[in-house]
Amino acid sequence: MRVLVTGGGGFIGSTLVDQLIAHGHEVHAVDDLSTGSLSNLDDARREASIHFHRFDIASEGFGDLVPRVKPEILLHLAAQASVPKSVADPLLDAHTNVMGLLRVLDACVASEVRKIVYTSSGGTIYGTQRKLPIKETAVGRPLSPYGITKKAGEDYIRFYQAEYGLDFTSLALANVYGPRQDPHGEGSVVSVFSQRLLEGKPPRIHGTGEQTRDFVFVDDVANAFVRAMDAGSGETINVGTGAETSINDLFRTMASSAGWNGDPEYGPARAGDVLRSCLDPEKAKELLGWQAWTPLEEGVARTMAWFERRR
Ligand SMILES: NC(=O)c1ccc[n+]([C@@H]2O[C@H](COP(=O)([O-])OP(=O)(O)OC[C@H]3O[C@@H](n4cnc5c(N)ncnc54)[C@H](O)[C@@H]3O)[C@@H](O)[C@H]2O)c1
Repeated sequence: MRVLVTGGGGFIGSTLVDQLIAHGHEVHAVDDLSTGSLSNLDDARREASIHFHRFDIASEGFGDLVPRVKPEILLHLAAQASVPKSVADPLLDAHTNVMGLLRVLDACVASEVRKIVYTSSGGTIYGTQRKLPIKETAVGRPLSPYGITKKAGEDYIRFYQAEYGLDFTSLALANVYGPRQDPHGEGSVVSVFSQRLLEGKPPRIHGTGEQTRDFVFVDDVANAFVRAMDAGSGETINVGTGAETSINDLFRTMASSAGWNGDPEYGPARAGDVLRSCLDPEKAKELLGWQAWTPLEEGVARTMAWFERRR
């Protein structure tokens, strides 16, 4: 099948590209390389002739590209993906996450794309919830512009389904971690801690460290996208483990894996961050036959080994 992955040079997008190639698909990757990198596609380029197109998804050029490629399915991962950046610059966030998305949706309709798989954010669209793990039916009030644009994206996609018959599945991802996540950008705490521990420096924790997240390994997440190409029509589906891990516990797991005996440093909490987050994965099991399989200890060990090899 011919598929197009936006954000294909990014952390999750490039992992997905690898899996799509392994499944024998013809893969086109689009990225403006603002936070992604061509080196993330080195494995893919060794395996097959992947087609890479450097475009801003919000540009007219992108709108012209999709009808030329004519993908059957478009997997949309390109985004301004940082909560702090969205707080500092909501306009920039909306440029990619709203205007870019609309350009993608128009292109899908013009090119008769059969289905779009959208990347939502389970860590931010639901805002603060008292009842955990969070189900897809939770009514959320996002705390950041990033959460707002990701949530608005789902509404836009539902409109395009109703108006133009464009099929979709929206995957609301928990906190994804793994190899290739950029610790210098707004990378997840796992890549930032990995980098610090390998440099022999104490990891820095924002706030008390008792805030919790649902950490899910990137290979497991990419597999959920592959499954969503043929399942979960018209649905928002959480992609997480259902397990809550505090940042202090994450630190302890990673410190023990790295053989680090020191203490972390504590700093002020970050604006726009939710206190507790954990997603109910039952719907993914039911509709996609998907369940996260990589335990946290194994995932962080693989992530740290990857950073070690890159040094
Ligand atoms: N990492 C997580 O924990 C997480 C959680 C929930 C949702 N997501 C979503 O998953 C997707 C992938 O995120 P990621 O963590 O791999 O981050 P990433 O920054 O590595 O990936 C985003 C990619 O999109 C590209 N991009 C950004 N703006 C673009 C534009 N205007 N045109 C074309 N390409 C553009 C970037 O260069 C990058 O390669 C995003 O939609 C993000 O919002 C990530």
